[in-house]
Amino acid sequence: MNLPLIPAPATTATADETFVVGGTVGVVVQSPELAGPAARFIEDVRLDSDVVLSREATGITVLIDSTGLDEVAPAAGLRADNANADERYRLEITGEGVRVWGPTAEAVHRGLTSLRQLIAAHAQDGLAALPTARVVDGPRFAWRGLSMDVVRTFHAPDVVRRVIDMLSLYKLNVLHLHLTDDQGWRVEVPSRPMLTDVGAKGAIGDRPGGYYTQDELAELVAYAAERFVTVVPEIDMPGHTTAVFSAYPELAPAELRSVDLGNGTSIPLNTLDPERPEIWSFVEDVLDGVIPQFPQSAYVHIGGDEAWGMADEAHAAFVERTAALVRARGKRVVGWQEIARASISSDDVVQYWLEPRQLDSMDDDAVSSTLPPDLLPVLVEHMKKAEQDVPRALAHGSRLLLSPVSRLYFDSPHAAESSDPAQEELRKRVGLPFYTPISVRDGIDWNPTGITPGVDSDAQIVGVEAAIWCETITTPEELEFMLLPRLPGASEKGWSRTPTDWPDYASRLAPHSTTWRHRDWTWFQSSEIDWA
Ligand code: ACM
Repeated sequence: MNLPLIPAPATTATADETFVVGGTVGVVVQSPELAGPAARFIEDVRLDSDVVLSREATGITVLIDSTGLDEVAPAAGLRADNANADERYRLEITGEGVRVWGPTAEAVHRGLTSLRQLIAAHAQDGLAALPTARVVDGPRFAWRGLSMDVVRTFHAPDVVRRVIDMLSLYKLNVLHLHLTDDQGWRVEVPSRPMLTDVGAKGAIGDRPGGYYTQDELAELVAYAAERFVTVVPEIDMPGHTTAVFSAYPELAPAELRSVDLGNGTSIPLNTLDPERPEIWSFVEDVLDGVIPQFPQSAYVHIGGDEAWGMADEAHAAFVERTAALVRARGKRVVGWQEIARASISSDDVVQYWLEPRQLDSMDDDAVSSTLPPDLLPVLVEHMKKAEQDVPRALAHGSRLLLSPVSRLYFDSPHAAESSDPAQEELRKRVGLPFYTPISVRDGIDWNPTGITPGVDSDAQIVGVEAAIWCETITTPEELEFMLLPRLPGASEKGWSRTPTDWPDYASRLAPHSTTWRHRDWTWFQSSEIDWA
């Protein structure tokens, strides 16, 4: 029998007995550092299902212990917090009770997350009859995340907390916040108050702006840490900086340029100029203001993408100096794949997103005719350079964080119809029309090794990160509609070592909708799945 777990565990064995959870069953904490994870588990089970675990009773035992884990290899890749945290765990359900253990509190949290999913899948009338089973499990990659655009639409802290809850349910351990872009600046820099006083005002169109205060970010970072999620900040430079120029016009180029998209909007071609000393005092101020707000993160994401209108030499000089400033502050560098065009170090992480196949699609008349004439040459030039980014990154000895657009850009339209006709209007409206629609199956029908030429070993990969950009996403409901049911698929690609079999995955995914309903999460009811 296949347990309805996502991501699929490394090894499972099941037997015919059951152990009933709920009613008088409780959690026994044998190691003091597990008090927090155990309390979180009891609360999460209540929110996922109608099963209530009593605090004082016995039945589920949790402990720190590293025995019996050797059949699962340690994770490949790098952790965003650079901690030496082994996430491997063991979960045993017998007729007498449940035991969950691992070498770290994080490992036990991952094991309790599997137990959460089993309880929710079997919950009925406040009880869950769990099949007896043994799960020995651990992740394939150490970095499993979601990159979230909070600029094009500003998402309030409570919306971000709901996303962190989703990450935790699927054993994802990184929330990468895209905090700055052309339309807004969302993080306080005490020495540069105009960034938030002025730069945070807008979003796309007439959507409200906003930013996270230092207190709000501290709460978000702590909320994530309690769920073993590291929040990684992205400050996008040297392109995507229109909000910087609105806050500090003296940092803008003398002559502002843009490509007219013909629909009342335009793409700016203005970037931070590495030749100007005042740009570097700005960058240093930003790093000094932002880094302390993300104490768990060993990394700063420096953006680096789509610095349109900038000479290659200037882009490389900008990336190299920014990376040096990040390293000088004791942090590591992650950036979009364009940073591989600079002379980066083997410790820097390169986030792969632009796939060679997108260049092919631009040669396609049907696609190119949808693009404004002035934009096509800019994109074609960008894509031609992008073909060399992965070979360059690997030549630098850098490792890749995989975010291929065709699989993991969650702002791509949903490909399949909804089984709820009432969702069809939303499905047709939300998602960037420029991207090829993605089905739930597309989301799992690929392997991190083999997604792009030259990447054939886990040793070249840091991990997997989905991305959600919010040009077409204006509300929390639309955000959740694009995250679910895709997020579990991304988690399976980052965690599970065996190839995902579609019918098996579809049957494991179906019962998860009961949890989403209990949690009041909006989700896309893809007709590909026979939902519970
Ligand atoms: C990106 O999608 N501009 C990284």
